[in-house]
Amino acid sequence: MSLGAARVQYLMDDVIVYLRKLSMDMEDLVSLALGDPDFSTPLHIRDAAKKAVDEGFTHYTHSAGLPELREAISEKLSRENGIEASPDEIIVTAGGEEAMHVTVQALIDIKDEVLIPDPCYHFDKIVRLAGGSPVSVPLKEENKFEINPEDIESRITPRTKMLVLISPNNPTGSMISKNTLDEIGKIVKKHDLLMISDECYEKIVFDGRKHYSIGSLPNMKEQVITINSFSKTYAMTGWRIGYLAADKSIANVIQKAHYYSLICVNAMAQKAALAALTGPQNPVKSMVEEYSRRRNLMINGLNSIGGIKCIKTAGSFWAFPNVKAFGMSSLNFSKYLLTNAKVAVFPGSAFGMAGEGYLRFSFSYPQETIKEALGRIRDALEKLPLKT
Ligand SMILES: Cc1ncc(COP(=O)(O)O)c(C=O)c1O
Repeated sequence: MSLGAARVQYLMDDVIVYLRKLSMDMEDLVSLALGDPDFSTPLHIRDAAKKAVDEGFTHYTHSAGLPELREAISEKLSRENGIEASPDEIIVTAGGEEAMHVTVQALIDIKDEVLIPDPCYHFDKIVRLAGGSPVSVPLKEENKFEINPEDIESRITPRTKMLVLISPNNPTGSMISKNTLDEIGKIVKKHDLLMISDECYEKIVFDGRKHYSIGSLPNMKEQVITINSFSKTYAMTGWRIGYLAADKSIANVIQKAHYYSLICVNAMAQKAALAALTGPQNPVKSMVEEYSRRRNLMINGLNSIGGIKCIKTAGSFWAFPNVKAFGMSSLNFSKYLLTNAKVAVFPGSAFGMAGEGYLRFSFSYPQETIKEALGRIRDALEKLPLKT
């Protein structure tokens, strides 16, 4: 008898878990694998949580989140994203991750199809856990990994219920332009689809780019669930706090799944998140400036290694180099780097079939770590012949 329920079987041989195991006891390992910023959460945010604990703010809160936090999120969405969502259309969640899960759990039925960019952060697994069917929409390097509206429309069937967009995207670092969002908005309207817009990296954008929220387009409110997080913007990964915003009719349904999953998010983390939104934003600016320096270091470094081609990250802290010239699967290539360079990165194929031939590198690590990893990779690849 196999122990795991059928719905978790396909998670058992997950590449990410496998590579983690492989690298666990390795000494002198340099990791560029994870998306956990090395920065500490800014002091005023930590202080707000300490104060909450000292004042005995240690009880359950309103299930959807503290009213004052939802008020602050509502103002932020209106001011920065052009999304009009009242506090009762907002649910504070345990990171973007819980927002993704409860949205899919609440809205996707067995056999519903969900269109998902490929490669992307594990929405496919979340859809499968809910019993739905993920349908991949390939992102192409020749389009700078920006999703193509025609590729979305050509995959719509009578069973399609939802489209997922992630901008900036993990793992490709690509962003979706305003024009493309307008096109996608028309398709979503025409086919009456629901949409998740994951905007967790909205602040980490480079070269003066602007992030757009599809939930701000006219008449989109009844169809779009916007997901955001404090993890990446404020270096708050361990606090586990994020949120979603949706029309009340949708938020009410998702709230049921949220209540029965979690009751409410950690009370102190909610106070910290309130301080993050209402306090000074200069720490975010400094972190993004440093990400920009790291991005240049990493992209230039990767492109200076024979056989590797890497387009410039538009947003997020991910680089997604093409390593097809070495003629290896991206899983074998990442294993080669792990064994021969003691550098841990994930294969692009861990994020979908269209990620085959690529690797995912994180620059949420200090410059010294990035330099060390690049030096090791250069040395290890000198011994490896190019196939093309
Ligand atoms: C695109 C994207 N969405 C959501 C998440 C979930 O992050 P969190 O739950 O920490 O907000 C991540 C984490 O890396 C991510 O890359």
